[in-house]
Amino acid sequence: MSSSMATQDIAADRIKGSQESVWVEFIQLAIDYKPLNLGQGFPDFAAPRHVCTALSEATLNDDNVLLNQYTRGFGHPRLVNALSKLYSQLLGRDLNAQKEVLVTVGAYEALFCTFMSLINPGDEVIIIEPFFDCYEPMTRLAGGKPVFIPLRPQPITDRPLSSKDWLLDAKELESKFSPKTKLIVVNTPNNPLGKIYTKDELQMIGNLCKKYNTIAVMDEVYEWISYKGEQHLRMASLPDMWDRTITIGSAGKTFSVTGWKLGWAYGPEHLLQPLRMVHQNSVYTCATPIQEAVAAGFELELQRFGKPESYWQELPDMLEPKRNRMAKFLSSVSMNPTVPEGGYFMIADFSKLADKLDLSSETGTRDYKFARWLSKNKKLQGIPTSAFYSEEHKHLAENLIRFCFIKKDETLEKAEQIINDLKTSLK
Ligand SMILES: Cc1ncc(COP(=O)(O)O)c(C=O)c1O
Repeated sequence: MSSSMATQDIAADRIKGSQESVWVEFIQLAIDYKPLNLGQGFPDFAAPRHVCTALSEATLNDDNVLLNQYTRGFGHPRLVNALSKLYSQLLGRDLNAQKEVLVTVGAYEALFCTFMSLINPGDEVIIIEPFFDCYEPMTRLAGGKPVFIPLRPQPITDRPLSSKDWLLDAKELESKFSPKTKLIVVNTPNNPLGKIYTKDELQMIGNLCKKYNTIAVMDEVYEWISYKGEQHLRMASLPDMWDRTITIGSAGKTFSVTGWKLGWAYGPEHLLQPLRMVHQNSVYTCATPIQEAVAAGFELELQRFGKPESYWQELPDMLEPKRNRMAKFLSSVSMNPTVPEGGYFMIADFSKLADKLDLSSETGTRDYKFARWLSKNKKLQGIPTSAFYSEEHKHLAENLIRFCFIKKDETLEKAEQIINDLKTSLK
């Protein structure tokens, strides 16, 4: 093929208009400027020993050398059995491990299979903002039309803002539904906000799904990270919702091993069958030793479920003081945080702080300018929050930055020091 051929001539129509994501620029910025990285969401501490040991044992198992070879395409038998056992228990219904669970390359592939296998050109997909940024391009790639609705923060003055204060307007939400609405995507606990949807909110969404014959796509990758007093609820467990819900999970988030890129979708057979076809014709099968190790991790967690030694107890207990510490040091420099109920991200309104800074060296929307300035000049990286909004609503996030707090105490200490130095330099 001639090297003079321009990309726009070569690329298939379906990807025209696709742009590089925020991660491309900010990962490069991190390489170039070496800031303290609170941008991307991954822990900088060791993953739980039991799953890591299970991975090395799987690859070195002389009694079962086949664990280094291909396994069942729709999910390694030991893993789909463990997943179906866990979710059967959590949902109070018997899941069929063969037909109602699909293992994927991260939650990302489960999302991709969902969009590609269920959306026809012209179908509408309701996406609640702020949203995990791949929902929009995946919807478009499948030929669908994203329809956006923002969560709106309530005007709270007598206490710090919580992710609970970000609400959907029921009437506005219903106005987004139409006979063309095929899917609504709900992420709970939410990235970047940390919102955990209440039973009332889920029921309101579920009722609209029933009224408009819409499928609920539940991105629940942070299902095990909710803070004291908060409880993650599963849409699939609500009355009459199983039949119209696909739920997506991630081993990366469940066991703090984001680099393993293993995820899953579960739901009724009639909804999972199309996903299986996209998976079969793209990825076909996921890494066997990783599935074996994640299965072993689940088996252990099933035994210690609800006990203090459970990793799903340990993880939020370990993260909560980190969340509180970050909220405190951000507030101290007039970056007003929204305190998350779940997940491991925090967004903060930096408008008061930015009023005192000269950001003219940077280009783009205000949040991009501020995030770039902070990375280059103060060596602290966060992510501009408008990346989690549609074009039409980016202005709602022009004063927001997202930080990740699943980090060692030493890392957060350094971040706090940077913030203290910034405070001093402004005096
Ligand atoms: C809300 C949400 N969904 C899905 C994913 C993708 O998860 P995975 O790494 O398992 O593909 C992420 C990762 O950050 C996420 O935050």
